[in-house]
Amino acid sequence: MKTVRVFAPASVANMGCGFDVMGFALDDIGDILEMTATDGEGIAITNRTDIPLPEDIEANVITPVIRKFFEMTGLSGHIDVSVCRKIFPGSGIGSSAASSAAAAFGMNELFGRPLSGDDLVVCAMEGENLASGGYHADNAAPALLGGIILIRGYEPLDLVRLPVPDDFYCTVVHPRIVVSTKAARDVLPKSVPMHDAVCQWGNVGGLVAGLYSGDIALVGRSMKDSVAEPYRKHFIPDFDDLREAALKAGAIAMNISGSGPSVFSLSADLETARKVGAVMREHFSEREIRSDIYVAKVASTGARPLEP
Ligand code: HSE
Repeated sequence: MKTVRVFAPASVANMGCGFDVMGFALDDIGDILEMTATDGEGIAITNRTDIPLPEDIEANVITPVIRKFFEMTGLSGHIDVSVCRKIFPGSGIGSSAASSAAAAFGMNELFGRPLSGDDLVVCAMEGENLASGGYHADNAAPALLGGIILIRGYEPLDLVRLPVPDDFYCTVVHPRIVVSTKAARDVLPKSVPMHDAVCQWGNVGGLVAGLYSGDIALVGRSMKDSVAEPYRKHFIPDFDDLREAALKAGAIAMNISGSGPSVFSLSADLETARKVGAVMREHFSEREIRSDIYVAKVASTGARPLEP
């Protein structure tokens, strides 16, 4: 019998222009799992948090991740999982990815690390598929590997670790409205007009170049989304006014975090990041929507073991 306790962080997907191909990890916010392997077969999941989670293990993202790990390694065992800390589902900061990443990472720790970090992302994507009906790694990859990750390609998975500028503060505001990833994906059209595609790939190139050169202004003006935001911004009350207020308060960019409803901004110093957070919270409270704020540097570390 072996037990591990593991953490995987929240993450911000898309980074504006990088729908399904870019994301970064956040410091300290995330999920904690305790996992025990014994002889035999089967999966049991116990929820030790006060966040409601599905009782049927087939509806929990952890289950397909464990199965994928066994499929990829040829190993077997009975796995007991205790969910000890959980990001609120539907918050838009990679709740399902944090569980999926922690489960994949924990399995690797339990069985002597047979898989690489990139292989663990493949396992974690099974959880993302259960949650949203699509194989995307823009939360799962940064949750496992930390930092800012570009998914250059999915077939095969080709992950690129991008440089994180030194002074890069993220403000995430989670308004207390629920938008499921599935609903936010269902609202997207199946094809993209050429003009929008041209804008998007110009911006993705600009964002990557800005991160490599440390040109924060270039990063900011590249974080524009012509593909998903026009269809999703209606989930967030008066989104355009919110962005205007955040930019006026000094943010270099403000976008929907993943599929929402959280929004995030990037700022070049901590003081501005806090000021932008206050302005965004004010926007929601004026509309009688409670919100939670997280201000953190982009985290360079992803999933990790904790002391038992
Ligand atoms: N890239 C995904 C989406 C992230 O925007 O649907 C989900 O959090």
